[in-house]
Amino acid sequence: MSLSVPPYVAPETMEVLYSTKQIADRVKAIGQQISEEYKGESIVLIGVLKGAAIFLSDLARAISVDNTFDFVAVSSYGRARVSSGAVKLIKDIDNPIEGKHVIIVEDILDTGLTLSYLRGLMLQHKPASLKIATCLDKPERRLVPIEADYVCFKIPNRFVIGYGMDYAERYRGVEDIRIFPETPPGH
Ligand code: PRP
Repeated sequence: MSLSVPPYVAPETMEVLYSTKQIADRVKAIGQQISEEYKGESIVLIGVLKGAAIFLSDLARAISVDNTFDFVAVSSYGRARVSSGAVKLIKDIDNPIEGKHVIIVEDILDTGLTLSYLRGLMLQHKPASLKIATCLDKPERRLVPIEADYVCFKIPNRFVIGYGMDYAERYRGVEDIRIFPETPPGH
């Protein structure tokens, strides 16, 4: 066992930033907006593993137009809690997106390095259109200029977990979005 694995902090002790109801309401609203904007079209949702898996699964169910989904994986923060700056593709899309309406789905837009890399990569596939949906947006942390087209919540520069988002791979299944304490209790 690695000595660097941080101690477990119970999510119940963490402050709730957004409740399940607040999240569900925003996801529903964005799903409706997308359904109106793409009326009569087919769309491809591309989720960025792993964090976006839960947001994508809820968003897909809130969208009433024809949609399929795919996933990509990029190099991760790991436990560093800061972006390394270098983004690498680990898993590419399974199906071609040329001529398709694509929405990249993220859990969080932070420095923007991941999405700006992915946007460039996806544009090389010549989609008919390309938009970005993110559950959270931390504009204060941006290092490269990129904005999402659909955002559930803009948040301050706090480290959050839950609703797909992790700390050291934990807490992705926490249903609401909570603020991870800067110093875990007892340390
Ligand atoms: C998070 C998140 C985004 C990225 C955003 O992924 O899911 O992909 O960081 O950060 P950026 O705007 O600074 O590039 P993470 O590396 O934590 O991997 P995960 O999705 O597997 O949790």
